[in-house]
Amino acid sequence: MKFDILTLLPDFFVSALEYGVIGRAITAGKLSVSTHDIREYTTDRHRTVDDAPYGGGPGMVMKPDPIARAIKAVKGDGVGGTGGVDGADADIVPTVILVTPQGTPLTQQIAQELAKKQHLLILCGRYEGVDERARSEVDLELSIGDYVITGGEPAALVIVDAVGRLVPGVLGSADSPESDSYSDGLLEGPQYTRPEMFEGVKVPDVLLSGDHKRIGRWRRKESLRRTLERRPELLETAPLSDDDREIIKELKQEELKQGEQDD
Ligand code: ADE
Repeated sequence: MKFDILTLLPDFFVSALEYGVIGRAITAGKLSVSTHDIREYTTDRHRTVDDAPYGGGPGMVMKPDPIARAIKAVKGDGVGGTGGVDGADADIVPTVILVTPQGTPLTQQIAQELAKKQHLLILCGRYEGVDERARSEVDLELSIGDYVITGGEPAALVIVDAVGRLVPGVLGSADSPESDSYSDGLLEGPQYTRPEMFEGVKVPDVLLSGDHKRIGRWRRKESLRRTLERRPELLETAPLSDDDREIIKELKQEELKQGEQDD
């Protein structure tokens, strides 16, 4: 899978992409990430990438023309950029993503959809935003959450990571993405490793039992418990079995009883 990132801060990505699962996947050729400096696509002497907003107001707005040129270049034959876009990729039309706090909130489901694509082009905004007309080049606007960060670069990294790790072969089979929080619409339950006793707290007996059926049931229950406690709204859309609904009833009763005891 190929990512092209259009940014005013290409150096921002250098060390972030050298480490961990994503770094290894890039070294192994399973992922390719190229950065492109939008400033390289300016045509004036001062290499201007931003200007004051029409109508006044604070901050600066990213100009549409360098962005449009950069997108077209990367879509076409990959002029410029640090990683180069080889000819074989030129016929795969990338999905162009603008990262912005006004975008659709990124979810695991969206990450799964994007992981099926072969080529993503991510445009990082800076300053007060990008000129509205640059958006005509964009297929999808994504936000990484309901808060504002100073530029789109950390958001682009989040997308590369969340999508890249779902590309087949990027994660080892030992840590398969199927058990992730959100992949089945629920939060993952608690995990334990050695030592068996830590600060007076023992690992739940069931996990030491070797009974994989019981362990599976316990894990499902704890996943439902955690979701009910922390993100109950997820239960409205998660695919639940009849057993799950029974467990949720039990958990709610346990919670009521606990409440009565606490009073
Ligand atoms: N740029 C600034 N804030 C952002 C956010 N929450 N998501 C994506 N891009 C952003």
